[in-house]
Amino acid sequence: MTDTTNIRLDYGSMLAPRLGGRGLDPERLAAAAGRFREIHANVEARREDGTLGFYDLVRRTPMVGQIEAFADGPGQAFENIVVLGIGGSALGTTSLLHALHGRDWNERSAEERDHFPRLFVLDNVDPDTIAPLLDRLNVGATLFNVVSKSGTTAETMAQFLIVRERLRAALGDDEGYRRHLLFTTDPERGVLRRIADDEGIVTLPIPGNVGGRFSVLSAVGLLPAAMVGIDLDALLAGAAAMEERCRTDALLENPAGVFAALQFLAHTEAGAGVHVMMPYSDRLYAMADWFRQIWAESLGKRKNLEGEDVWVGPTPVKALGATDQHSQVQLYIEGPFDKTVTFLAVDEHDHEVAVPPAYAEIDAIAYLGGHTLGELLDAERRATAAALADSGRMNMTIALPRLDAHAVGQLLMLLEIATVYAGGFYGVDPMDQPGVELGKVLTYGLMGRPGSERADIPDPDPRRVLR
Ligand code: PA5
Repeated sequence: MTDTTNIRLDYGSMLAPRLGGRGLDPERLAAAAGRFREIHANVEARREDGTLGFYDLVRRTPMVGQIEAFADGPGQAFENIVVLGIGGSALGTTSLLHALHGRDWNERSAEERDHFPRLFVLDNVDPDTIAPLLDRLNVGATLFNVVSKSGTTAETMAQFLIVRERLRAALGDDEGYRRHLLFTTDPERGVLRRIADDEGIVTLPIPGNVGGRFSVLSAVGLLPAAMVGIDLDALLAGAAAMEERCRTDALLENPAGVFAALQFLAHTEAGAGVHVMMPYSDRLYAMADWFRQIWAESLGKRKNLEGEDVWVGPTPVKALGATDQHSQVQLYIEGPFDKTVTFLAVDEHDHEVAVPPAYAEIDAIAYLGGHTLGELLDAERRATAAALADSGRMNMTIALPRLDAHAVGQLLMLLEIATVYAGGFYGVDPMDQPGVELGKVLTYGLMGRPGSERADIPDPDPRRVLR
């Protein structure tokens, strides 16, 4: 029986019968079932041996209670919470905030926010963003949540040093400033851990077996979520429901398996290595950003599991419906056959806005009157999907019954598990990111970090610079 709280995956338009011969032969998908069984068994073994810790985050542990106790107690003394972090330490939190409270949360009055704090996520080191924000905020009413698994990331550490100085200047060098800091980091390793121990700063752990981009359901995302009143139980229950649906090794019954297999086959057998995620919901746009990171950083790899050079990986792209119908869709429909498009749809929006009937004599606009904006948005999505399919373009739709914590928990878990399965199909380790290291090392060298002397970046060739 279909559960009406379940998110749905409609993938008919990935397959040749709907695409006039283009797209994937359903037989090829069916044939991937054997390979999927092996991948699934391998993933289950890795869960057992504790190397895929993100699966365990769906269970309510004592840590969740501690997070709620902090958020409901001392946390409510703050008017603002500012997350300092980048990549996997930031994107999931923004996705949760936008999906569940909207993109305008911080612009609302305290009453409209039910007196929950504003939530800012500083995921960059652009001085033109950070200086105005810190100047505007009352740091004495702000909690700074420094989030870093490694506890060494240059961007996050620089943000921390700046904020610490501001806090000390405003609140003095004794106990006061520490109460405005909370570190979310590795339970044992890293500089943040050491500073927390030395200075008595409150910390929350990121389990050692949970990688940054898989950490949204750890304290990384749950603490800020709880601070702004997001229902953690519903979020985790949604994630657990998806984890349960993905227990099966029967490919065609496993939503994450189907998503991963179709994207992989589209890439390797139909030349569609550009994977567009296109929510028809402003509130889910940040989710496409989060997906872009987990898909790119997990699957873009030089080496396969045997250590051979393979240079593989899909290129995730984000787009927003209906906005990007007037920007990107021309390319998707008539450009090269190198893309898949995954639409995110919301069945029931929180708000209903009616378009008033007017100008009965002008057919070109009169037809809109009496409809709602939700109907228009949905019609635009269905029309775009149909136009893509009619043009032989592979697309699928993930539909959320509504934008609530249960559905968002399902979506996050679906895409996390799909990423791990896709790693299996591509034959790479989705948990590492060796390619990011060189850039980090060169940055350390340029910034003068001891022990990181390598900074051999040549100056630009003046003959090749136009001034
Ligand atoms: O997914 C990852 O591992 C990365 O995107 C990290 O989250 C990012 O580099 C930040 O790392 P850290 O949390 O160690 O500061």
